[in-house]
Amino acid sequence: MALQNGELSSDLLHSQAHIWNHIFSFINSMSLKCAVQLQIPDIIHRHGAPMSFSELVEALSINKERSHFIYRLMRILVHSGFFLKQTLSIINEGDGEEEKEVYLLAPASRLLLKEEPLSIRPFLLAMLDPMLMNPWQHLSKWFQNDGDICPFQTTHGRSLWDFAGQEPKLNQLFNDAMASDARLVTNVILKDCKAAFEGLNSIVDVGGGTGTVTKAIAKAFPKLNCISFDLPHVVNGMEGSKNLSYVGGDMFESIPEVDAVFMKWILHDWSDEECIKILKRCKEAIPSKENGGKLIIVDMVVKNHEGGTDESLKTQLFFDMLMMTLTTGKERTEKEWIKLLLVAGFSDYKFTPILGLRSLIEVYP
Ligand SMILES: C[S@@+](CC[C@H](N)C(=O)[O-])C[C@H]1O[C@@H](n2cnc3c(N)ncnc32)[C@H](O)[C@@H]1O
Repeated sequence: MALQNGELSSDLLHSQAHIWNHIFSFINSMSLKCAVQLQIPDIIHRHGAPMSFSELVEALSINKERSHFIYRLMRILVHSGFFLKQTLSIINEGDGEEEKEVYLLAPASRLLLKEEPLSIRPFLLAMLDPMLMNPWQHLSKWFQNDGDICPFQTTHGRSLWDFAGQEPKLNQLFNDAMASDARLVTNVILKDCKAAFEGLNSIVDVGGGTGTVTKAIAKAFPKLNCISFDLPHVVNGMEGSKNLSYVGGDMFESIPEVDAVFMKWILHDWSDEECIKILKRCKEAIPSKENGGKLIIVDMVVKNHEGGTDESLKTQLFFDMLMMTLTTGKERTEKEWIKLLLVAGFSDYKFTPILGLRSLIEVYP
């Protein structure tokens, strides 16, 4: 394609750079994964003070002949805001002044520390594991084939949930990822949305994973009977406590009877038709609105193009593509949520956009 009359070479080059930026976007996530696997955030954190390059490479568990390559890894991660680089002036006795470059953690890398209670490190390691990344290589093939419910199935020959039930490594990786997200979200819910749980006698966390949210709710409300409900391979062997029990089952079949059903990151995994089935099972499990029945949903509400920063909409669109690639689900706008809830027979709802990119949605029969 030659430059047309009047077409500026700067426009052409700008388009080329835009394409390059997209081709190589994966380098952002892969560089971050590498730093996390090498425990760079933990090493800088444990050092307890700004860390020089030589101190950092000395502390790393790497082939020391590769030390100088770490500078390049750190450079891109400083550029993408995970580490800060500062230049310190050191006064040496007799020798005058010397400049020393040091690294510090930026706020986002605190959430990648191994020992940080709210760390989402397990989420990063699961999402960037080849088992969950390979389906992206089959996205276009899935668009053209017939029968597979999603690219995950084109790649692995079964659904994510079936594969997790048969492959202990994926089950562990996925459950740990969910538990890490649940810890962070529960922290915010119990701080800012406690009122949503007041007055309830019993609650079931449908698709509650290994029970991170349920455990925290049971602790915060000692008189509330809590059930963590998930597929048998997820809850097998889990031990409950005074007001917490684990129940294995299939939410498409039936859900234990309670005052309220809690669902975090469940409905976005499923198509509208599947969600309506789940929501109908939820409605059967709870009493009328007058008798205290409700659903408490934590999920994304996709912003309209006008709302939010470009970055937050982009992240929501990433999640929507993730749902399409790994499951039959999708991320929904407020209008789509309302339609789904009404079709499933619910009459009233309240959206509280209090969880960053996600919202708390209270729904009444
Ligand atoms: C995206 S994870 C969310 C886990 C947890 N709610 C959280 O947000 O941390 C979806 C959960 O739904 C569970 N699940 C999938 N199919 C299910 C079914 N048919 N019945 C019950 N749980 C199911 C999975 O095992 C998984 O734990």
